Amino acid sequence: MGLVPTMGYLHAGHASLIAAAAADTDLVVVTSFVNPLQFAAGEDLDSYPSDPERDESVVASAGGHVVFRPSRDEMYPRPMITTVSVAELSKVMEGASRPTHFDGVTTVVTKLFSIVGRCRAYFGEKDFQQLAIVRRMTADLSLPADVVGCPTVREHDGLALSSRNVYLGPDERKAAPVLNRALRSGAAAIEAGESDAAVVRAGMRSVIEAEPLARLDYVEVADPETLAPLENCDSRARLFGAVRFGRARLIDNVAVGASW
Ligand code: PAF
Repeated sequence: MGLVPTMGYLHAGHASLIAAAAADTDLVVVTSFVNPLQFAAGEDLDSYPSDPERDESVVASAGGHVVFRPSRDEMYPRPMITTVSVAELSKVMEGASRPTHFDGVTTVVTKLFSIVGRCRAYFGEKDFQQLAIVRRMTADLSLPADVVGCPTVREHDGLALSSRNVYLGPDERKAAPVLNRALRSGAAAIEAGESDAAVVRAGMRSVIEAEPLARLDYVEVADPETLAPLENCDSRARLFGAVRFGRARLIDNVAVGASW
């Protein structure tokens, strides 16, 4: 069984996960659930975009078989007093900006793994921190899932596909690829021999700060497994960033030495 957990409003990035699952497994289950546990007050839980009919056709044309779209009451029939929490990895970067987010993700993913049963579970590298956390949780708890990471799907100008790109106004959409450009400039600096992560971070920050519509949340150079910030960069380093454009908050990450 292949499992592709999503929050719906599927795009070509999700389709690539479904296609990967369909290539590897006999039965592909796509879950679609906007999980309230991973949204903090004031975030976009109630306005998260949704188009169930279009999702059905994305799933079918990518080779998926079943869409599991539970209601909030089905998933959480009573107040949750149990939380799955992955220490350390959940505290940095997205976890520092959104302190309750990853406990919500790991709790719902654990429930989905329990509901679906033994499976290969497909997650996008666009949410690289989430992927690292789910991998660690699955290993630590011996959950019956093989976690598979799949490459980020991008627009022609480098913008990573995300359901939240729909929040971008036309000028913000034009400006948004600056995040990927900044991360790529950091990767290029490391490839050219820069080893001081503070210098790499400052370079990425200055690319983003030159874009008037961008409000920088963070840029980071971190170990891809522990997600710990690095002082000295090497070819294993991964570069991460989060930027706001109006009401859209976008995240992205790149590896050193990736081909574009
Ligand atoms: O990446 C997402 O869409 C969500 O965080 C996930 C994994 C479906 C859990 O709600």
